[in-house]
Amino acid sequence: MLDLIIRHANLPDGRQDVDVGIQQGRIVAVEPGLAAQAAEELDAAGQLLSPPFVDAHFHMDATLSHGLPRVNQSGTLLEGIALWGELKPLLTQEALVERALAYCDWAVAKGLLAIRTHVDVCDPRLLAVEALLHVRERVKPYLDLQLVAFPQDGVLRSPGAWQHLQRALDMGVDVVGGIPHFERTMEQGAESVRLLCELAAERGLRVDMHCDETDDPLSRHIETLAFHTQRLGLQGRVAGSHLTSMHSMDNYYVSKLLLLMKEAGVAAIANPLINITLQGRHDTYPKRRGMTRVPELLAAGVPVAFGHDCVMDPWYSLGSADMLEVAHMGLHVAQMTSQAAMRQCFEAVTTTPATILGLDGYGIAPGCRADLVLLQARDPIEAIRLRATRLAVFRRGRCVARTPAAISQLSLPGRPAQTGFQP
Ligand code: FE2
Repeated sequence: MLDLIIRHANLPDGRQDVDVGIQQGRIVAVEPGLAAQAAEELDAAGQLLSPPFVDAHFHMDATLSHGLPRVNQSGTLLEGIALWGELKPLLTQEALVERALAYCDWAVAKGLLAIRTHVDVCDPRLLAVEALLHVRERVKPYLDLQLVAFPQDGVLRSPGAWQHLQRALDMGVDVVGGIPHFERTMEQGAESVRLLCELAAERGLRVDMHCDETDDPLSRHIETLAFHTQRLGLQGRVAGSHLTSMHSMDNYYVSKLLLLMKEAGVAAIANPLINITLQGRHDTYPKRRGMTRVPELLAAGVPVAFGHDCVMDPWYSLGSADMLEVAHMGLHVAQMTSQAAMRQCFEAVTTTPATILGLDGYGIAPGCRADLVLLQARDPIEAIRLRATRLAVFRRGRCVARTPAAISQLSLPGRPAQTGFQP
């Protein structure tokens, strides 16, 4: 007798009419016409059952602070960083925890059950680090939170940041971050990459740097990141976030860089909603899109995830924890409209970030954790097209969120009445 069977589900890999059996928080069977009984059964009726969404890049210490202490008037990256600097001294731990918990509620409702969040370590009080370590424990029963020690003002440029970053790691932060393009010079940027990669190697940690988040085609810290990843044997444990300068780089140079990244086992994380709004701001027309070269990275064998980056914070006043909105934007900006490419965009918010984060037991196969989301869509492409409703979200086999199906009633002259209309 199983705990739960979800019957007649479509899976993201294209399998249809499959039953998924769940026992004690784990998936125990994935097969058509499963001959078993369960305490509870759910008929998926041909809808898509996916492992949960995963956000590879977020800033939970800043989320839901929109308007505090004022609104970003220009909407630019640099005013956002300045605004965050004004907000930091005013932060309280209670307010930070409250906002982070509220965002995690949003996330679960949207089937987003794992988030890698950067946390600013340039504040000597490390107030945000303490707050998010607390939140990581609080949400553990329903959401995996991974923290990155992020020196927002530059680990070399900001006085004391090198020490604060190491203290944050001592306190239990999971991943080493960085921001080489924000250091004072190219040389200092490269030096910061070396120091941070060596620190990660010493401590056996993963690395995820904000890297080359600029329109400057000569910002090439990703080359240095790939070099030290390989030198220190960190393959498969390092991600370069943003990499927007690649958009503007010389094609010949990129043809070499892609191979170096593949060879080093470095992953890429693009943030489509933020890259399309923050990059190209100094351009007249035509304006660059700014997002990194996603199809080319994928073709070279470099894993690419899409992150949300910001929701209602100094940099971005929109967003709703909906990773399908992120995938939708990524698909458009990268012109990934082939059938295969659209499926890759779905993978960029599910399986690929799960691998980058090193999530344990992620997927739909016997032995995996029963973390699942049932979508009001038949396949991943339809899910992106509709930013489909999350009908049910399961954590360790237990339903933690439900949303009614989006169904309209139409009464149009000259058309038959429709009570269960879906686009
Ligand atoms: Fe970021």
